[in-house]
Amino acid sequence: MSIYNAYAPIYDAIGQGAFAEGLTAHILRSLPAPPRRALDLACGTGAAALALAASGARVVGVDRSQAMLRIARARARDRGLPVRWVAADMRRLGQRPTAHGVLRPESFDLITCLYDSLNYLTGPDDLAAACAGVARLLRPGGRFVFDLNTAHEFKGWEDADQVVFDSPDMLVYNRLSYDAERKIARGRIVWFVRETERWWRDEETHMERAWGDGEVVAALGAAGLRVAARRTPAWAPAPADAPRVVYEAYAPHRV
Ligand SMILES: C[S@@+](CC[C@H](N)C(=O)[O-])C[C@H]1O[C@@H](n2cnc3c(N)ncnc32)[C@H](O)[C@@H]1O
Repeated sequence: MSIYNAYAPIYDAIGQGAFAEGLTAHILRSLPAPPRRALDLACGTGAAALALAASGARVVGVDRSQAMLRIARARARDRGLPVRWVAADMRRLGQRPTAHGVLRPESFDLITCLYDSLNYLTGPDDLAAACAGVARLLRPGGRFVFDLNTAHEFKGWEDADQVVFDSPDMLVYNRLSYDAERKIARGRIVWFVRETERWWRDEETHMERAWGDGEVVAALGAAGLRVAARRTPAWAPAPADAPRVVYEAYAPHRV
């Protein structure tokens, strides 16, 4: 059963895009110049992509989930923002140089991948594959900004229940677990929705991998990318035990 399918309208309705929206504001403020072309990977329902488009950038949003992209597309239409939406797997970016006509090599000033989306890559080679695609698409000097949940965050998932959203008509609940040996975290998201006289429920199980800092640096480095900064989501320097790290990486200029 695919994820971010049935959950897509729930994710959007409970405001999960707010995190990426806030982070995008920090990213835009920190750049030396506004991006002209930006790519948001794992764009979900479009939070970051729309914020980037509203700042004046020409934006492409990529996600694997058609259900998430449908909501993003409708949002863009409502706001009159001309974002290009592409259904693709971020582990296979730019393998065909003209894929979809919009993912051209070295064409983006900024690539983002927000709200622990890279944690969703759980295979041992997945992060390196995504970074290689990013490196192909980023222009020299371009920025790649992404955030990751760390093992410190996942320790709190070892055996936990979390109410994500609670209103008179909707309850979203997360059953969390973490296998520290395999570095795999699991969230069983269950939602209950009231429609007039009756409630219905559905659920999805999401898996995330804890990528260590050394693995991140190696995956970026193998693609020719370098780390410029590690920050908290509030844009302060990240401490060693940060539960979430926002990485700013860049493609060096050619000499
Ligand atoms: C936590 S959501 C974040 C969405 C969006 N970035 C935001 O901040 O609202 C994770 C997103 O990653 C997408 N995703 C997971 N694995 C993917 C992959 N291999 N390729 C493309 N998208 C992927 C999911 O479909 C989902 O939309």
